[in-house]
Amino acid sequence: MPRFSVSGAAIADADVDLIIIPIAQDNAAAAASRYDGALGEDLKSALDRGEFSAKANEIYVARTPASGWRAARIVFVGGGPRSEINVEGIRRMATSSAQVARQQRRARIGWADIEPGAIAATARIETVAEGFALANFDNGVHKSRDADQFFISEGVIFTSESAGAAAAAGGAMGESINAARALINEPGNYLTPRVLAEKAAELASVKGITAEILDEKKIESLNMGLLLGVARGSIEPPRILVLKYSPEGAPAKQTLGLVGKGITFDTGGLSLKPADGMERMKDDMAGGASVVAALRSIALQQLPVRAIAIVPMTENMPGGKAIKPGDILKGASGLTVEVNNTDAEGRLILGDGLWYARQLGATHLIDVATLTGAIVVGLGKITTGLFGTPQPWVDHIERAADRAGEKIWAMPLFEEYKEQLKSEIADMLNSPGRPAGSITAAMFLKEFAGQGPWAHLDIAGTAWAEESKPWQPKGATGAMIRTLIEVARGGFAG
Ligand code: BES
Ligand code: MN
Ligand code: ZN
Repeated sequence: MPRFSVSGAAIADADVDLIIIPIAQDNAAAAASRYDGALGEDLKSALDRGEFSAKANEIYVARTPASGWRAARIVFVGGGPRSEINVEGIRRMATSSAQVARQQRRARIGWADIEPGAIAATARIETVAEGFALANFDNGVHKSRDADQFFISEGVIFTSESAGAAAAAGGAMGESINAARALINEPGNYLTPRVLAEKAAELASVKGITAEILDEKKIESLNMGLLLGVARGSIEPPRILVLKYSPEGAPAKQTLGLVGKGITFDTGGLSLKPADGMERMKDDMAGGASVVAALRSIALQQLPVRAIAIVPMTENMPGGKAIKPGDILKGASGLTVEVNNTDAEGRLILGDGLWYARQLGATHLIDVATLTGAIVVGLGKITTGLFGTPQPWVDHIERAADRAGEKIWAMPLFEEYKEQLKSEIADMLNSPGRPAGSITAAMFLKEFAGQGPWAHLDIAGTAWAEESKPWQPKGATGAMIRTLIEVARGGFAG
């Protein structure tokens, strides 16, 4: 685990192996004149020749002068137009440049905090540390030849600000996100519901969190017929992970309830998915991993809020005992559901999970789920879908996402959509057809969310990256973890 700190030392004196200098595009010439005395016009000629133009995440590596500098290399990283640099932009710059440091096998890296832009100092420094930590993600855990990967051991931010706590917090957030990504990437044969429950509980085993794993017997005694129904098709038993964090002095009247979808593999069940691309369905527990990683960070930062996390876990398989289209299931809340499509399983297990979170005293609910293909059609892979009620709670989450630098977009939940959920023979239908598929899925969840604020984040588009970027490996993204942390930071009166 790398250490993160801040230092007031001059950049030339920075006691690191490699120093990263961020440069905004419209500020590049000024930056060149600032450093080129020492660098022998290296940066200026690179700019003049067009070799480097400080576009966002563009990299230019220079040697440090033979004498006077302690770092062996300088990495200039472009920021694009200064007015456009936001939290996400800084995180990307930090991760992209730290990746270069890793490739060059430089373990102790520095960041020159000279391009403040419009972002407050603590947020900026936290984000750089987070970006550094994200660059340490190990994408080759199952490759024997990648056994000796190189990692960054230390990140120092050179700044006049006193923000050591922000650097430490950012580093810890990055590590939590990496841990969630690692879980999400695990294949279905390794990460069964029982293994996920153990590993997620282990991830959350930090000061202040108590963990409990409910087994199939306990789940039966809670009458969770929706979760049990989905689990019937698998020889692996279901689990529910329950995490509780209630620090002394936290307002007793409010408890944040985070509920995450924990399908360790989604075949679709008897409503079997097409073979093409089905391998991605190992990520169908991304929501579950995200709420666990968020609660871990909330506890590590000792935020003064009560919070719980609930993750119902099962495989969705077409085994001999599997539920069949047309079957009726009864959830713990008492509502009955006609299962006309066994591939709409996420809303079933979340129905019992949301109900249980309210039972445990959650006043403000957020669920996170790779729930619908329809949200990918609507918002693509860029933006998470946000649904919820009442409006102040939705607004609160929108603002948190904005501070976190994650893109979300609020979708409507007009009563008229409920019409589609009507079943002839049960209280509701689980698969109400193609129109507004993400909205009707959210309307379904709402029926189980009880009274009080509730929101749903559909991360089916944002949880998984099809291609790698300098700031993001292919695979799990860890989307919405920092937003959930920001929600807890902001208090939640909504
Ligand atoms: N896990 C899927 C949703 C999904 C789709 C996530 C694509 C990531 C990428 C979910 O369980 C599912 O199968 N949803 C169905 C619902 C339908 C049957 C009503 C869907 O979206 O097709
Ligand atoms: Mn499904
Ligand atoms: Zn699913």
